[in-house]
Amino acid sequence: MMQRSVVLVKPDGVQRGLIGEIVTRFERKGLKLVGLKMMYLTDEILDQWYVHHKEKPFFGSLKHFMMSSPIVAMLWEGYESIDTVRKLVGITKGREAECGSIRGDFAMSQSNNLIHASDSVEGAKKELDLVFEPSEIFEYDKDDYLHVYSQEERGK
Ligand code: CMP
Repeated sequence: MMQRSVVLVKPDGVQRGLIGEIVTRFERKGLKLVGLKMMYLTDEILDQWYVHHKEKPFFGSLKHFMMSSPIVAMLWEGYESIDTVRKLVGITKGREAECGSIRGDFAMSQSNNLIHASDSVEGAKKELDLVFEPSEIFEYDKDDYLHVYSQEERGK
């Protein structure tokens, strides 16, 4: 099944000039970019985005960090790709993330870990609705899908 992940380049990634590097990681894997924009996250969006962290001691500082500069929101599509995207991103704590992953290669922190990626199909749907308008999502044929996937995986 084709899946979509919402990926955010967090304020530390924007400040450190890693937007291009991060986009390249997903592009070269064979994923398809179907949405991309720069925006500020609001208190209201973050309350919903991180509702499962509401009781955590770091909730306030997490929201403050996430509003400290614009972020880049992306929507990446691929066959059974939600877990693939999370592997490319690496585990939360940057200093322990596997080398070769984005966090493993570029991050040391548990909070300033450069990037967010959806953890499930339901999570992706919720996040998509929070940051993207329908008109900001693009359906198009990507020619290299012919080579990235088999006919069956492409659903053709
Ligand atoms: P992520 O896993 O994308 O989503 C939850 C975020 O909360 C996480 O990235 C970090 O940015 C942040 N976070 C997780 N654990 C901590 C912590 N112990 N202290 C501060 N921030 C944290």
